[in-house]
Amino acid sequence: MSLKDKIDIKNLPQHIAIIMDGNGRWAKMRGKHRVFGHEQGVISVRETAEAAAEIGVKFLTLYAFSTENWKRPATEVEALMKLLVQTIHQETKTLTDNDIRLKAIGDLDSLDENCRKELIEAMNTTASNKRMDLVLALSYSGRWELTETFKALANKVRSGILNPDDITQEVISNNLNTAGMPEPELLIRTSGECRISNFLIWQSAYTELYFTSKLWPDFRKEDLYEAIIDYQQRERRFGKVSEQIKSCR
Ligand code: FPP
Repeated sequence: MSLKDKIDIKNLPQHIAIIMDGNGRWAKMRGKHRVFGHEQGVISVRETAEAAAEIGVKFLTLYAFSTENWKRPATEVEALMKLLVQTIHQETKTLTDNDIRLKAIGDLDSLDENCRKELIEAMNTTASNKRMDLVLALSYSGRWELTETFKALANKVRSGILNPDDITQEVISNNLNTAGMPEPELLIRTSGECRISNFLIWQSAYTELYFTSKLWPDFRKEDLYEAIIDYQQRERRFGKVSEQIKSCR
């Protein structure tokens, strides 16, 4: 029985989020520049998106560039932006052929003009696709997103559209960049680091975390299947006790 066949299709996570880590180390281990690791990471992005769409995952969110990544050497930031533009440009047709919609979360205004233009074009081209949403987190961090959300809510209060007593968890969720998306049931991080690193911090309150020592450029379809199988063996209790969960099944 292949790993793919071991997946219980009725218990798939609808939304998987991934912190793609280890590109730099992967390249360094091969005596290459860090950018080479990012380039190879694009192959893993393609494989993972294809595998997720094939098995029926509805949302795949990838942490492609964090707010903090702007602090990297300018040459690496430039190379990453160039790679993003190139990849988005090259992959738009494949996304459409596979009925995948491209979306983005993050401070898109901080991206350079060319990158933003390419991204918006690809999002428009794929807007009516329905099989899966591929969401790129670009210039994104959870704290940035929460700060922007609280500012937006405060402005609504100031202009009299919103009563502070009506601010609920649902209102906050509906004002995040991820409004309309389900919370991720599974968050994968590669490269052996066991941190969330400011990714989807509100949305991952009850997310199952999966850490693998594989470096991102080595991540393949089988690795995604393994993570899903591991997730399917867990009991998600959301604060309740095991018996309550079993009696609801
Ligand atoms: C983390 O590895 C990876 C990134 C900051 C960038 C991820 C980008 C890609 C995989 C390429 C482009 C993606 C898309 C969606 C087109 P790291 O550099 O922090 O690795 P290290 O921890 O080994 O230094």
